[in-house]
Amino acid sequence: MNKSKARKKLEELYRAINHYNYQYNVLDEPVIPDVEYDNLYQELLDIEEIFPDLVTDESPTQRVGAKPLAAFVEIQHKIPMLSLGNAFNENDMQAFDSRICEKLDIKFVEYVAETKLDGLAVNLLYENGKFVHAATRGDGHTGENVTANVKTIKSIPLNLLGSGFPKIIEIRGEVIMAKRKFEEFNDRQRQINGKVFVNPRNAAAGSLRQLDPAITSKRPLSFLAYGLGFYSDDVMFSTHSDVMNNIKNWGIPVSTDIEQVKGLSGCLKYYSLISQKRSNLLYEIDGVVFKVNSLNAQNSLGFVSRAPRWAIAYKFPPEEVVTTVLDIEIQVGRTGALTPVARLVPVFVGGVTVTNATLHNIDEIQRKDVRVGDTVIVRRAGDVIPEVAKVVLENRPDISKPFIMPDQCPDCGSNVFRSESEAVFRCTGGLYCPTQCIQSIIHFASRRAMNIDGLGDRLVEQLFVAGLIKNVADVYEVQLKDLMLLERMGEKSSINLKTAIDASKTTSLDKFLYSLGIREVGESTARSLASNFASLDNLMDANEEQLLEVTDVGPVVARNIKTFFEEEHNRNVINRLIGSGINWREIEITDSSKLSGKIFVLTGTLTSMSREQARDKLTAIGAKVTNSVSKKTDYVVVGESPGSKAEKAEKIGVKIISEQSLQELLSEA
Ligand code: IVH
Repeated sequence: MNKSKARKKLEELYRAINHYNYQYNVLDEPVIPDVEYDNLYQELLDIEEIFPDLVTDESPTQRVGAKPLAAFVEIQHKIPMLSLGNAFNENDMQAFDSRICEKLDIKFVEYVAETKLDGLAVNLLYENGKFVHAATRGDGHTGENVTANVKTIKSIPLNLLGSGFPKIIEIRGEVIMAKRKFEEFNDRQRQINGKVFVNPRNAAAGSLRQLDPAITSKRPLSFLAYGLGFYSDDVMFSTHSDVMNNIKNWGIPVSTDIEQVKGLSGCLKYYSLISQKRSNLLYEIDGVVFKVNSLNAQNSLGFVSRAPRWAIAYKFPPEEVVTTVLDIEIQVGRTGALTPVARLVPVFVGGVTVTNATLHNIDEIQRKDVRVGDTVIVRRAGDVIPEVAKVVLENRPDISKPFIMPDQCPDCGSNVFRSESEAVFRCTGGLYCPTQCIQSIIHFASRRAMNIDGLGDRLVEQLFVAGLIKNVADVYEVQLKDLMLLERMGEKSSINLKTAIDASKTTSLDKFLYSLGIREVGESTARSLASNFASLDNLMDANEEQLLEVTDVGPVVARNIKTFFEEEHNRNVINRLIGSGINWREIEITDSSKLSGKIFVLTGTLTSMSREQARDKLTAIGAKVTNSVSKKTDYVVVGESPGSKAEKAEKIGVKIISEQSLQELLSEA
């Protein structure tokens, strides 16, 4: 066979194999016997062996071709991957539906109802119909590049079918393992004494986060799409059903239980139908999701913090089991909060064996009157920490006594106090309390903070107990020879850890701020602080008034931030961290923009973009977006049904502009 004939034959084989793959993996309707498929695949391999330079990325043989990775690289999503608000009962659903009717000023909302798949969220990027990369959800903004692994999932097309897709498109969905495939996989693992997973979700997540795609390719994973992320504006869609139909026609599997329903009653009917069907579904689900069908309506509803106002997850009730409380212990957290935890006789619930359940705080213990020796009902929903729902009083032993909160920290003996505004007791030991120190280092090293691969709970504890680290700054000064002396740390793992510690030095300002563990400064507040102040020095010098101008920052958080940076020992730790080489790219403020430094307040509903998108666009060009109108405000952008902020702006003479003017300003910037 000559080269040009081979090229032609290869194209034919690609087309045929992709088609049979689609029939088998997406439609579940095989059209040829397995042997015939295997023969075609072998023919493809044979030709590729003779003409290796004709092998392209799109070849079906390249799904498993990639070499093992040393670590996952980060990928930034083009628009954030958000989460969903939850409903747990009909009242929550009613409130959700009324809110939407009211905001849209309509009587009945048309929703799309879907199952809530219990797997791992993944974003697939296609450009000109070609699969480019896949990333996990991560912190919602950046995820891990799992392209090589996702390529091994045969139901995901490397080329979209048909036409009519946007040039650039992010398709979002869930990587899952079907229930039956999961059982079969675990059976095989047991036979070879391999790792057995507790539930399909963990199996899917564990399989996708393998560094070696050859391993992932042997795991029976599927993908079901539930929507889009970013897409270029060369194609428009009018409804979510329209989007889902298109995704399906492009050859991407979508859930089979999608339905259009009308109003609250339609939602409730769907919920009860799926509850009955749940055990017969091929995949594990933990609830159903309702989405407003019209994309225009979705746009005008917008988002609240990290979830859309136009969608909700109606969760199934958590599974409940009965067990016994062996003991009640106190756990000390990173900020000194003391959490009572019930140690239980192990029980299997919600797919895992549970040995502890949180009792939240002393008020909860007293309200439920949980005592050592009690028979209790424990429940666990999804990934939520198991909790004690109720005590079975009839089984209470005669000798039982109510639980009393200790007045000293069980770990460092410092006094315990409870401020009037809080439900929790706290240890006053601060950095003298070993547990608080250990927890703050664990937080610092965690994936979403400084992301020091391999520095987990156990190792931090070991390093702390050995006296090698006392605070986060010490992490960067640990010597290789010291690491090697630790139990179970050979030369290779010590070198790997040291490499990971060094690699973590390059970070971003928001991650660095988050990793410091300032009370109540979570990831989203850290991001707002970073984009508003642009540099650590600006933030450290900010007064409370300036802090209050940042979205998400109220008086308590502003005080926490101020107090944190005022503490001498915190400033020392920060100086040492910077001194050891921690660095980030300065946030560029394009001074050329005439909006740079201008202060905006957004009020009312925007129609062409969500408020969050508007804020991102403004901060990207160096403007600031704050929550409250003051004399310092430069512009108040007024959307539909604006609140009192517009009135205030008028009163104090701040410039008020429409959404359209905002867009003009943005396009000029
Ligand atoms: S829509 C902005 N639809 O649930 C809308 N999510 O709790 C975001 N999920 O991160 C998601 N099934 O990983 C949507 N039919 C479905 C879903 C679904 C499962 C997951 C998804 C999301 C999480 C939110």
